[in-house]
Amino acid sequence: MYTIMSIFGTRPEAIKMAPIIHAATQDEQLKSLVCVSAQHREMLDGVLHAFSITPDYDLDIMRHGQTLQSITSLILEKLTPVLEKERPDMVLVHGDTTTTFAAALCAFYLQIPVAHVEAGLRTYHRYSPFPEEINRQMVSRISTLHFAPTQTSAQHLLNEGVDEHTIFVTGNTAIDALQYTVDEHFEHPALTWAKGHRIILLTAHRRENQQGGLQQIFAAVKKLCARFEDIRVIYPCHRNPMIQQLAHEMLDDCDQIRIIEPLEVYDFHNLIRHSYLLLTDSGGIQEEAPSLGKPVLVLRDTTERPEGVKAGTLRLVGTDEETILQHASELLTDKTAYAKMSNASNPYGDGKASQRILRALNTYLHDK
Ligand code: UD1
Ligand code: UDP
Repeated sequence: MYTIMSIFGTRPEAIKMAPIIHAATQDEQLKSLVCVSAQHREMLDGVLHAFSITPDYDLDIMRHGQTLQSITSLILEKLTPVLEKERPDMVLVHGDTTTTFAAALCAFYLQIPVAHVEAGLRTYHRYSPFPEEINRQMVSRISTLHFAPTQTSAQHLLNEGVDEHTIFVTGNTAIDALQYTVDEHFEHPALTWAKGHRIILLTAHRRENQQGGLQQIFAAVKKLCARFEDIRVIYPCHRNPMIQQLAHEMLDDCDQIRIIEPLEVYDFHNLIRHSYLLLTDSGGIQEEAPSLGKPVLVLRDTTERPEGVKAGTLRLVGTDEETILQHASELLTDKTAYAKMSNASNPYGDGKASQRILRALNTYLHDK
């Protein structure tokens, strides 16, 4: 029996690790441990609850006003005794958050091998997204196994000199997660509020958009409402107090916009299905929306998800107010342009990524 420990801390990592944890729990050859940093508290707990996951260890590090430095050092300090006690055969981390990097570094310092889920995503722009691009590059240097969601991400790793025998193209576990949440009978107060209107689902939280980008996004959304009376904008706002404050200051006076608390993942996935269009700077939503046939305007200057752009479901529009307005207006008026985006195929997998990941993990652990 081999022991694996999944370590994560934020909402998106939890959503995309949950299907692997479920599969690992049913695998008789593995003992599966879960350690959360709780870099996010409420937003993480919602996902743990939704997927019925009870962590074996909870480092409980979240502080308001936390910094990249404080998150990193607290994780190194609090995770070390956990890893020393359990000495797992493999640590699993996901993606590119500060928890991802700090947990991988901590395991490396103790010479415990690391497997990286959602490996090989790149923009090759040092500060976009910040600090995620460099986090994930550093985790690639540390990791022993690399679970790349697509051929493109695998190719990045090969180009960087990673041994091809350690790279596995698995699909993205975000698509696996949708199988747990999508529900034909979904109801929600926000949906009732927007009834009879076209829903625009907005999320925006990235660090690189916090120096002016958010203001432009919010201004564009307000102008869009003035232009289209039949739209309703639902904005489940990240718990970051700075973002909450700005959003309320700028958007509260528009009765076509509703700012709500972050949604439970079940609600969010189902709300995507009821939306007409998504405006987002999120990473994970760029994977989910193509799978659910919904066009996305990506409110960022770069994306590490070029597959969705190539497939036609994502458009990289940045944060310029006029550009957002122009693209959103086109999709609200031009049926052909809209159909082209919503009918594009999903490039992120078939919902069986977790199975592939476990197969590769088991093979590695038995052969080593
Ligand atoms: C983190 C990740 C980012 C990811 C995002 C997902 C880093 C550097 N960034 O950024 O890659 O896209 O999570 O959402 O790792 N807060 C709460 N409750 C919560 C969660 C957050 O109150 O449940 C507040 C706290 O005041 C916290 C602040 O939000 O200090 C910022 O959280 P933090 O994890 O530092 O940054 P994110 O922007 O969430
Ligand atoms: N999500 C959620 N509730 C919300 C907004 C998003 O459950 O109110 C989910 C979404 O479906 C996706 C993930 O959170 O799976 C994306 O997280 P986020 O945008 O915070 O982070 P990123 O993917 O940008 O790192």
